[in-house]
Amino acid sequence: MIRHEYIDQYIRNTIKRETGILKELEQYAMEHGVPIIQPEVARMLSVIIRIHKPEKVLEVGTAIGYSAITIAGVLGEKGLIDTVEISEEKAILANDNIYRAGLKHRINIIVGDAADVLKCLDKNYDMIFMDAAKGQYPDLLPECLRMLNSGGVLISDNILFKGLTAKEQVKRKNRTISNRLKQYLSELCNHPDLETSIIPIGDGVSISYKK
Ligand SMILES: C[S@@+](CC[C@H](N)C(=O)[O-])C[C@H]1O[C@@H](n2cnc3c(N)ncnc32)[C@H](O)[C@@H]1O
Repeated sequence: MIRHEYIDQYIRNTIKRETGILKELEQYAMEHGVPIIQPEVARMLSVIIRIHKPEKVLEVGTAIGYSAITIAGVLGEKGLIDTVEISEEKAILANDNIYRAGLKHRINIIVGDAADVLKCLDKNYDMIFMDAAKGQYPDLLPECLRMLNSGGVLISDNILFKGLTAKEQVKRKNRTISNRLKQYLSELCNHPDLETSIIPIGDGVSISYKK
């Protein structure tokens, strides 16, 4: 939460919320401490996808498949997602959830460290959703930009890191991540091929358009 609690509650009580398997996964994530996108971020992703209409999507950080299922649910007929997850255990759970959601034909899980996997991917994407280890975002950016089509969109979650990215003084235990995210946002905002907006919903989301 990076704004006032009452505003977050109001937004969450007002936006359309998930039903079915996604609601079930929200419950599972809460009970098992799995970090997944927040409801307002899910709605934002859905709206952007409906406007942007990507066909090929790359997700970095699958967890239990919640965001991949959310994205696949609003992709058009030809839409396909590659999603990268370092934890084999989580990838197995995600695979099961994706199968139950009837979206196996739309979502391809790649198990491995994104730092290695992205280098080996020889594909192009219309949209990339970055939602893995925050400290790694700057290292993953060049590979993401290599694969993102011109006219494509890079969406990055958790970039405000509970507001700590915006603070000058940060406790030692959070300093590395907060500095890495500052570096990442600076690169996104100053890159000649990108136009980036920073949105303070959820834990902070950036949207970058590749010219
Ligand atoms: C915030 S969770 C992803 C949540 C998911 N996108 C959702 O909203 O349903 C981050 C995930 O990234 C994975 N992860 C962390 N570092 C990674 C890496 N280097 N390569 C691939 N996955 C990684 C974690 O295991 C974790 O499952």
